[in-house]
Amino acid sequence: MVKTILVLVVSVLATSLAQAAPIVIKFSHVVAPNTPKGIAALEFKRLAEMRTKGRVRVDIYPNASLYKDKDELEALQLGAVQMLAPSLAKFGQLGLKDYEVFDLPYIFPSEKVLHEVTQGEIGHALLDQLSSRGILGLAFWDNGFKVMSSNSPLRLPSDLKNKRMRIQPSRTLEAQMNELGAISVPLAFSDVYPALQSGLVDGTENPPSNFYTQRMQEVQKYVAVTNHGYLGYAVIVNKKFWTSLPGDLRVILEQCIADATQKNNDEAAKLNKAALDAIRKSPGVQVVDLTPQERETWRKALAPVQVKMEGRIDRNLIEQIKSLSE
Ligand code: LMR
Repeated sequence: MVKTILVLVVSVLATSLAQAAPIVIKFSHVVAPNTPKGIAALEFKRLAEMRTKGRVRVDIYPNASLYKDKDELEALQLGAVQMLAPSLAKFGQLGLKDYEVFDLPYIFPSEKVLHEVTQGEIGHALLDQLSSRGILGLAFWDNGFKVMSSNSPLRLPSDLKNKRMRIQPSRTLEAQMNELGAISVPLAFSDVYPALQSGLVDGTENPPSNFYTQRMQEVQKYVAVTNHGYLGYAVIVNKKFWTSLPGDLRVILEQCIADATQKNNDEAAKLNKAALDAIRKSPGVQVVDLTPQERETWRKALAPVQVKMEGRIDRNLIEQIKSLSE
């Protein structure tokens, strides 16, 4: 009898201890909560906390409130945060140059081809490359195709000549701006609005959802709907943390990521469309839609970037993606 009571007390204590101390996943990101990534992060939190019945808590830090771009990658490797979803353009900083294939202008002719890459063998192989950096790659999340913006009239590639353009820290994006005769200024995402406002840079590029939620339309006069390049994310975790999780939790969490990925990829295009519509209605900014001929001019102007980047990005990888497009 005494033994039974003891066992009961110990088990009640153990249960309440487990409840009192959930495993905390700190998920840091640099964009607003009402963007594709922001919404998917919140969905992951909701599902993870519900399905693990509180054994896991996910704390989300949006808008670079905890770490800026480069710092967040270091923080993940050091274990100060457990989860991130950086833009694919930022992985070159870890020496993973192949990730810059996503930055090549016009490499994806459609969303279908993009998803064949991110959800197929190529995507898996790219995520596998992270392991050597103490990171596990769990999924790709879409944002969308980028618009180009400037504070002076913008319609053709030549309009960006000598303009100072903020880019993400990617050599391929640098090459892209060089090709246009522009001057690249790599800056953290959270520094873009003040840089545009102060005139430190003249223009930038991003999908409409990022542009609108950071209020860039307030500090830019022209937005050209070029759709010249893609911006998406890899959902990554600290490898040591993830592999030390109890197996049952890991299975649940990986399903939560798969479901959040689905939500992200269902919502991303809609959010970007809504954001572009909202930019159109914003005072002081003009949205420039391109004619098919003008689009062709952009494509031709940026075509050399692919060839120039063959020394940096695996040539076979570029060829593989191009063969999907045919
Ligand atoms: C940027 O820095 O422009 C974007 O990568 C931000 C983001 O995470 O979408």
